Amino acid sequence: MSANSCLKIMSELNPHFDLIVSQLLAQMSLEEKIGQMSQLAGHEGWIPEHLIHALQAGKVGSVLNEVDLRTVNELQRIAVEESRLGIPLLIGRDVIHGFKTIFPIPLGQAASWSEEVVEQGARVSALESSTCGVNWTFAPMIDISRDPRWGRIAESLGEDPYLCSTLGVAMVKGFQGKNLKDTGSIAACAKHFAGYGASESGRDYNTANIPENELRNVYLPPFKAAADAGVATFMASFSDLNGVPASGNEWLMKEVLREEWNYPGFVVSDWDSIRQLTVHGFTANDKEAAFEAANAGIDMEMVSSTYHDHLQALVAEGKIDIEQIDFMVGRILTLKYDLGLFDNPYTDPSSLPKVLADENIAAAKQAALKSCVLLKNSNNVLPISTNAVNSLAVIGPLANDGYEQLGTWIFDGEAQHSQTCLQAIKDFVGDDVEVKYAKALKNTRSDDQDAFEHAIAMAKSSDVALMFLGEESILSGEAHCRSTIDLPGSQEQLIEAIAETGTPIVLVVMAGRPLTLTNIVDKVDSILYAWHPGTMGGPAIADLIFGVKSPSGKLPVTFPRTVGQIPLYYAQKHTGKPATNDSFVHMNDIPERAAQTSLGMAATHLDTHFSPLFSFGYGLSYSKFEYSNITLSKNNIAIGDTLTISVQLTNTGDYDSDEIAQLYIRDLVGSVTRPVKELKGFQRIHLTAGETKTIHFELSSDDLAFYDRKMQLNAEPGQFHLWLGGSSEASLRTEFNLIDAK
Ligand code: GLC
Repeated sequence: MSANSCLKIMSELNPHFDLIVSQLLAQMSLEEKIGQMSQLAGHEGWIPEHLIHALQAGKVGSVLNEVDLRTVNELQRIAVEESRLGIPLLIGRDVIHGFKTIFPIPLGQAASWSEEVVEQGARVSALESSTCGVNWTFAPMIDISRDPRWGRIAESLGEDPYLCSTLGVAMVKGFQGKNLKDTGSIAACAKHFAGYGASESGRDYNTANIPENELRNVYLPPFKAAADAGVATFMASFSDLNGVPASGNEWLMKEVLREEWNYPGFVVSDWDSIRQLTVHGFTANDKEAAFEAANAGIDMEMVSSTYHDHLQALVAEGKIDIEQIDFMVGRILTLKYDLGLFDNPYTDPSSLPKVLADENIAAAKQAALKSCVLLKNSNNVLPISTNAVNSLAVIGPLANDGYEQLGTWIFDGEAQHSQTCLQAIKDFVGDDVEVKYAKALKNTRSDDQDAFEHAIAMAKSSDVALMFLGEESILSGEAHCRSTIDLPGSQEQLIEAIAETGTPIVLVVMAGRPLTLTNIVDKVDSILYAWHPGTMGGPAIADLIFGVKSPSGKLPVTFPRTVGQIPLYYAQKHTGKPATNDSFVHMNDIPERAAQTSLGMAATHLDTHFSPLFSFGYGLSYSKFEYSNITLSKNNIAIGDTLTISVQLTNTGDYDSDEIAQLYIRDLVGSVTRPVKELKGFQRIHLTAGETKTIHFELSSDDLAFYDRKMQLNAEPGQFHLWLGGSSEASLRTEFNLIDAK
């Protein structure tokens, strides 16, 4: 096909491509086009011969996992100056929650319910990783995660489509900035498309069977929001989604992403996920895998080489059209233009702010402060006043471990930059309070209780025991799933031993997932859930413990009582026999030889109450908040209308603090069953002690829309309940109707 006819096709059929992309495409050989569709792994500071030759031949579109700046600039130089067409490279890196300055894990950032925190964290990550030539990151991870056994819940933004969509968009904005061409902006990547979070039994890479209606109403919305926000790329999931692995799923990648959403960016496979189509048994060999992935529209292959090895033949055999290839390559070239790489592919770090700059460190501390969730504070043991105590016992394997507090997916963060809790506590109290320290366990998995005696003695002679327990970072993240989610090792036994001393216990948990704390929740006075809080976890947690700030985080994910309750999430369906307190009879209370139908017939377990231990949206403060006087702008809204909801929020406590006001609805009747509650709005509000503010939310009829029985997105007239409060257990309720004004 002549260059002109290619240009004609490109500019007519795909106005998305600027003329410049079309002109470049017209000059490219098929081999060079396929080269753009190949991403190769870096070699951490050196460039092997085979990579040099591939670059010179124009057979590489991107390199990932190279962050040595000299090497990155040399990779770019070879690609630009030693190949025929001089096309620069995309340099990819997982900068999931920080590069050198590490922020709380994404699940922790989600607990801040703050778009500002999440956007700032991504901005700092982009600026810092840019100093090493990175121009593309594989984040945000916006897989809805409702199974805490799954290790990757740590890098997710939680269980709720609305919260995940809102914060996922904030992360895209942080990475991509106002313009991709700006220094310090990097391309983001919405991953893993789609349904990865529903991996059966919480085992990573496992089958994901999700009915289309559930997929569209729960798992796809965050990806649609990211697409609408202009995320530069998508990543295909490893998942076998309903029998068709995502990396070869034409329905998902073409019908939904391209035809329904008209998404213009490009899709990269996950690591080796195209070749794995054969491992799935979806294809018989690499050539078939290349066909299915290219046919579905996976534009770039991460690390495996099925495109390099077989695409040319597939085009020659007429199985893949050259137009399809041109669309795929055009999307890749367009991003390179959008990033300004053709103008300047090289990185001059002097043009960028320093890594670990003071403002970055300050942002990481703010994020950790707002991410911690106060789950319990009986007897108001927290905050601790340094005037009221003489000695503190700091106990546990996570009190002084700058590596573990960083969390999973840390490729470039370094423990040496971490400020630990022990050090921060010592810095805070100075000479006013004696701080004693006992690690007590070698690590979080240890069962060696030999050091307990020392810890017990210390606790006995202290006013408060501050215990730092949870999970080492390796126990969450990719491929790190657990079939039970209690505190590992002998940590529960350690808590019991310290509890027997009678000294008040403040438990600080660092973990990459919700843990089942049922066995110990009554043995401690206070629980502060810090997730893995990142570089500044220590100072942030110290400020919370001593009351410089009040905790304000809220749970982005449900905490089950037992692992057997999973999946357990607030936005569940009502069922035809809903669980109620009246219908729950604990197994131990069942009379012998009880009649078959005597226990009530409802959606409950016999051995565990159906409620969670801690609910989605829950989190305490040192203050207390009261919601009152909820009012609606009208009681009936028509399709196309907007409802304004107002409520008075009062800080009735003694502490200035933030409260995250949450708005939930329930659509009482739908053409498909609807959740008993759905988050549709939230605001982080600061109130001084005693202050009252009237806050307003807006709800449009579009906000009430869902995919119906025919997979059409519609808001259906009918009655709605609406709640406002500080968690998904909000009780302040009103009602309104959506009417069909025709
Ligand atoms: C991994 C992950 C993906 C990551 C990619 C590159 O296997 O699934 O999230 O971005 O490979 O490291």
